[in-house]
Amino acid sequence: MKYFTTGAKSALIDKISIEEVGMPQMVLMERASLGVAGAAAEFIKDKKQKILTVVEGGNNGGDGVAAARILKERGFNVDIFYIGGIKKTSEAFLEQIKIAENCGVKIYKASDDYSLKSLLVGYDIVIDGIFGVGLSREIGGVQAEAINIINDAKEERQNDLAVISIDIPSGVSADNGELLGVAVKADVTVTFGFTKVGMLFGKGREYSGKIILKDIGFPACAVEKTAPEYYGLDIDDIKKILPVRKDDSNKGNFGRLLIVAGNDSIAGAAVIAGQAAFKAGAGLVKIFTHKDNRNIIGAALPEALLDVYEYNSDSEESSDGTNHSAGKCSGKITSPGGEQSGEIISSTDIESLVKWATAIAIGPGLGTSEKSKYLLKAVLKAAYENDKPVVMDADAINIISEDRSILKNLRFEEKKWIITPHMLEMARLIKTEDENAKDALGRIFKDRFEVAKYVSNEYNIISVLKDARTVVSDGSSRCFINTNGNSGMSKGGSGDSLTGIIGALLAEGMKPQDAARAGVFIHGAAGDIAALKCGRTSMTVTDLNGVIDMIKR
Ligand code: APR
Ligand code: APR
Repeated sequence: MKYFTTGAKSALIDKISIEEVGMPQMVLMERASLGVAGAAAEFIKDKKQKILTVVEGGNNGGDGVAAARILKERGFNVDIFYIGGIKKTSEAFLEQIKIAENCGVKIYKASDDYSLKSLLVGYDIVIDGIFGVGLSREIGGVQAEAINIINDAKEERQNDLAVISIDIPSGVSADNGELLGVAVKADVTVTFGFTKVGMLFGKGREYSGKIILKDIGFPACAVEKTAPEYYGLDIDDIKKILPVRKDDSNKGNFGRLLIVAGNDSIAGAAVIAGQAAFKAGAGLVKIFTHKDNRNIIGAALPEALLDVYEYNSDSEESSDGTNHSAGKCSGKITSPGGEQSGEIISSTDIESLVKWATAIAIGPGLGTSEKSKYLLKAVLKAAYENDKPVVMDADAINIISEDRSILKNLRFEEKKWIITPHMLEMARLIKTEDENAKDALGRIFKDRFEVAKYVSNEYNIISVLKDARTVVSDGSSRCFINTNGNSGMSKGGSGDSLTGIIGALLAEGMKPQDAARAGVFIHGAAGDIAALKCGRTSMTVTDLNGVIDMIKR
């Protein structure tokens, strides 16, 4: 397990290490600077290249000044540009300036009328020590000007100018990856102790470039005392929680997953989810879908069991020309206004289907019509009454967004169910009456953890908020951030695969929180293997599904 820290947590770890544990600040700063100098030295192949370290007067600037001094001692050609625009200069920064001057490092001060724009022309590398995790508001004035000069020079000179940021690119919010006004666009960011949460998401991720993590010896007791909320897992953590596939086994040992997916002539989502479920180890998978999908699913996924329904509208004949087919009426549906009504006919009733299963996955390609809504409500009610774990995705979430009481009325004491919205689905789910989905989306970008936590507690479920970095919340202050996966997964069908994987893990008996975290990790890891095999551009979700088991066992 590894922690990710916010700005406040990073600052607190620093403070406790210094004030309570007694680590001298200058020792931590020296280690941080050695880390920066080491990473920079590896990056800078030619010692003739000229480096300009651009600093403000906080501790991030102190790191920058010390790194410049270390690089100079190692024979690099390095100078410092000091902006000098913040009100309260740190003591450590001033001490570092003194040491650097004593070691003969040239310091250009803006107050002496040196212009960063003119100076920068003669340099090949910028080290950004303007702001670190102490940044607390939008950047303006002289610092914004300096950042724009660096970015403009980079834009103009591309690979002829390299930018290395210290701890976090100046201007990136360590909490959510948003830009506080402007931010330095770095090629490399050398970060201390823990990757900052804001470097994992959105613009923050883009602006950080390659992240180099340096252990600077924060004492474990200081770290634990701050109880960091955000964490990632690696493959060994995941392997520990996955069920063991025993040799002495039969298909009954690995769960029975019921997938309720697809709609009139929409079969693909059900096939992808079913395939993923088998590849993730489910013993039996049964797909309950519209009868029009029978032949396609039967051909595409012959290993799955299939149960179909048809929908007979009272006002229309069914699609095969008869009024009623053989089968049980699974439910009478009347639209809220009463203008549309009909019935769902299936050979197995919904309650029996649910009772058969050890877990249920519902939603991919389900549609959002009255019929789909009826199916969702009936399946969830039966699952609730029979105490079955459920994973809900896609249209199941869209339906719930329109009528949140569906889920609110089915609250277990423990969190047994999982919901897997992507960002927009989550926006629909949380938007208030006087808010549109776009504004709600803005709220999610500002604090996706708070939103995931809110939904988890509101419905008493595990929430999986899908994005390029998916987060999983169980409603507590701790939140899992998944860091594998790649842009080859930004393709239709990827979400259906995740639903199948999580469904299979639930069916095998994993705890919902573990099934969600492991499912997301396995999905991302399979995406990475598929990308290695096929390339990000060419890979499809079928390629991803094909390699799921390569990491699972
Ligand atoms: N505009 C101007 N000044 C600002 C702004 C802003 N938008 N935001 C914050 N400041 C001021 C604050 O007063 C802050 O203390 O800039 C100061 C310096 O910022 P940092 O150097 O980021 O903060 P500091 O806490 O001193 O140092 C944290 O030190 O441990 C190292 O590099 C590590 O990132 C870490 C950094
Ligand atoms: N990096 C890592 N993972 C990614 C990336 C990326 N760049 N892009 C996508 N993924 C992963 C996400 O984390 C998620 O697990 O791929 C999956 C995509 O899932 P969805 O967003 O649900 O996408 P998809 O399967 O196409 O479903 C589309 O949106 O249009 C609606 O209702 C429709 O349900 C359908 C859904």
